[in-house]
Amino acid sequence: MSVKSLVSISDYSKEKILQILDKAAAFEKNPNQKILDGKVVATLFFEPSTRTRLSFETAVNRLGGRVIGFADASTTSGTKGETLKDTIKMVSNYVDLIVMRNPIEGAARYASEISNIPVINAGDGANQHPTQTMLDLYSIKKTQGRLDNLNICMVGDLKYGRTVHSLIMAMSHFNPTFSFIAPDELKLPEQHKMFCKSQGIKFEEHSELNEQNIADTDILYMTRVQKERFTDLFEYEKVKNVYILKNSLLEHTKPNLKILHPLPRVNEIEQEVDENEKAYYFQQAKNGVYARQAVICDLLGL
Ligand code: CP
Repeated sequence: MSVKSLVSISDYSKEKILQILDKAAAFEKNPNQKILDGKVVATLFFEPSTRTRLSFETAVNRLGGRVIGFADASTTSGTKGETLKDTIKMVSNYVDLIVMRNPIEGAARYASEISNIPVINAGDGANQHPTQTMLDLYSIKKTQGRLDNLNICMVGDLKYGRTVHSLIMAMSHFNPTFSFIAPDELKLPEQHKMFCKSQGIKFEEHSELNEQNIADTDILYMTRVQKERFTDLFEYEKVKNVYILKNSLLEHTKPNLKILHPLPRVNEIEQEVDENEKAYYFQQAKNGVYARQAVICDLLGL
C-alpha cells in the first residue's frame, strides 16, 4: 500500500509548498485547536535533537493529539538487534503518523516504504530535513514578504548540512541567487551545484565571510560545522571556528537582511548578535511549531 509521506522536500511541488505555508500562517494565528483529537503520533529519534522533536511534540499536543516515542535509541530493542524494518512495522501498528530522525541517509525513505502510515523525515544523516525547510521558507516569507528573487547567502558546513541541501531544492522554485561561503573542506557537494545549474539558478562560491561577500544579501543562512559527521575529529578541529559572525560584520548589510540558523549554534554566531534586530534564528525555531502543524495535518488529510 502506498501512503503519503514527507521524506524529501522534492516530494512537495511549488503549489504544495505555498499551500503548506498558508496553513502554517493560519496555525500561527490559532495554534491551539482540537484537530488531532484521537490521533497518536510517534517521534522516533535515533539521533539527538532539541528543536525538531520538541516542536513536533508541541505541534501535536497543541492540536489535541498524543505523542509516544523515544529520544534515546539506546533504550529501545534496537540494542537487542531489532532491525529498523521491524521497528517501523511495529510502531506503524500503534500510531497514525511516524516522525523519525536517523543518522543513515535514506533511512526515512526506507521507513516510508515499509510503513502503512505516513512517515515524516526529521533528518536523515547529511541528506534531507524537509520540515526544517518548511519553517525556513515560512521564516523567509514572513521576514521578506516574498520568496521570489532573493539573495541568499549560505555560510559554514555546506557539505554535511542537510538543512542547506533541502533549502536549495525548495528555493529552486523561487528564482534565488545563492552565495555559498565555505572552506574547501566543507564546500557544497557537486551534486547540489549540478542541481543549481540544471535549474538555471545563479550562484557564486567564496571562502571568506566578509562585508563585501554579504553586501547584497537578503537572507544570511548560518550553519554549524557538523561535528557528528566527521570520521576524523582532527579534521573537525581544523574547521570548527572557521566563521564567526559578529555585529561589526553586519554594519553595512541591507536593512531587510535577516540572519537565519537552523540551530543548534556553537561558535559561529557571537552571542552579541542575538540582540541585533537582524537576528531571527530564535523566532525561526518558534515558527517550526506552525510549519509542523501544517505538515502533520496535511499528511493526515485534516
Ligand atoms: N534544527 C534542528 O534540526 O535542531 P535539532 O537538532 O535540535 O532538532
